[in-house]
Parts: sequence; structure tokens; C-alpha cells
Amino acid sequence: MKRLGLNIDHVATLRNARGESHPDPLYAAKFVAKCGADSVTIHLREDRRHINDTDAKQICKLDKVLVNLEISMNSEIVKKALNIMPDFICVVPEKRKEITTEGGLNLDFNKTDLKKIIKKFKKKKIRTSLFINPSIKDVKICKEINVDCIEIHTGKLSNLVKSKKNYLSEFNKIKNCSILANHLGIEVHAGHGLDYETTKILNKIDQIKEFNIGHFIIGESIFVGINQVIKNFKKILKN
Ligand code: PXP
Repeated sequence: MKRLGLNIDHVATLRNARGESHPDPLYAAKFVAKCGADSVTIHLREDRRHINDTDAKQICKLDKVLVNLEISMNSEIVKKALNIMPDFICVVPEKRKEITTEGGLNLDFNKTDLKKIIKKFKKKKIRTSLFINPSIKDVKICKEINVDCIEIHTGKLSNLVKSKKNYLSEFNKIKNCSILANHLGIEVHAGHGLDYETTKILNKIDQIKEFNIGHFIIGESIFVGINQVIKNFKKILKN
């Protein structure tokens, strides 16, 4: 069965809106793991707009929860991540003014630095991943970088599906990249903008082993509760 990684950054966003302590991302991490999420994702942004250093440290210390820490290539953040020791890391591009992670990494430009970063985490036995656009060229560069996993940015496909446009070409790009990565021994994940419908569509690609989903799950939880939303996703991923 494919795995569900749940991004809990938005729990911190809600907490920070009041500057108080509720809802607590640490409690959320434990809670969603009990509800069946296979891992939790947190993004320690350079501007700390949601998860902060204390959250990251406490969440990564949890024994029974697998934690995927998203980080930029910023050397201070990389150093912190190496100290915090999450189970997994995923390197993502980060722009200060963006609302969310808008696309994959520029691998051509950052290949040498990324290779060094990935080596440091692998040395500590932390599973490594790079957030990339669905590009065959980028998958080949990932092999050179020697990363364990890739996470394919699914934002474009999600937007096409939501606006009822033809998504076949984007779907095929994701599928071909997944097949190639799998063939090269790189584990494939997918994430960004996913909801029930887009997850159902991408679930048809056998090579995708993990979906990382945040905004939709937290938003939908307002109506049906997070336990139910996780159950609904797990049911989709079973098929
Ligand atoms: N995967 C990565 C690498 C991300 O950066 C994000 C969002 O920050 C997600 C998945 C989750 O995206 P969404 O919140 O749109 O589900």
C-alpha cells in the first residue's frame, strides 16, 4: 500500500494566527500518526512563518512518529536539520514572498551544492529526497546527486484538474519520470495541491510510493474531522 505523509504546517499557521499555543503541532503530529498517517511533514522555513525551531525539535524527537523535515538549501537551516535529526529530509526551493512552494528545485544550477547536502544527511542515515518538477532531465540529475527519493511537484496537474482542463500531458510527464526514477533505484513520492480527486488520479501510477498532502487535509478536517479525512485517503491509497 502507498503511504500517506501528512503536512501539519497549517496547524502551526492557525496557532500563530493567535500567537498562543493552540492548536499544538506536536499534539497534531502524535494525533495524526494515531489516526493512520504514515509520516508527518514539517517545513522549517527560513522566515519561520509556521513551524518554529522548538516545534521542529520536539516533533523530530517523537519515537513513534516518522518525521519528514522539509528544508531549503540555506546553510543555517541545513545545519539545524543535521542537529535535529529527523527521520527523513526533503530539500525544497524557497522564495521569501511565495505563499507556498511554487515549483521544484533548479537542479541544473544547484547540482554541486545539493550533492554535498545529500551526502551529509546520508552519512547520518537520514532518508533524503529532492522536490523536483516532472522532468526526465531532472530525474537523471537526481541519480548523479545520489539522492534516495524524489518528490514530484504535482501542483500543475492539480491546477489543471481543479480547473477542469486536460491534464493528460502533465499526468504522462509525472508517470514517465516515476517509471525512470524507479528504474534508476530512486523511490518516488508526489505532493502539492493534492485532494481526493487528484490523489485518485495519481494513485494509478504504481511507482509512486508516498503522497505528501497538507492544505486539503487540514481544510477538509474542518468539516469531517481529521480522523475521517485520513481514513478517506487511506482508502484511496489501498486501491
Ligand atoms: N510536498 C512538499 C515538498 C511541499 O512543499 C508541500 C507544501 O508546502 C506539500 C507537499 C504539501 O502541499 P499541499 O499543502 O498543497 O498539500
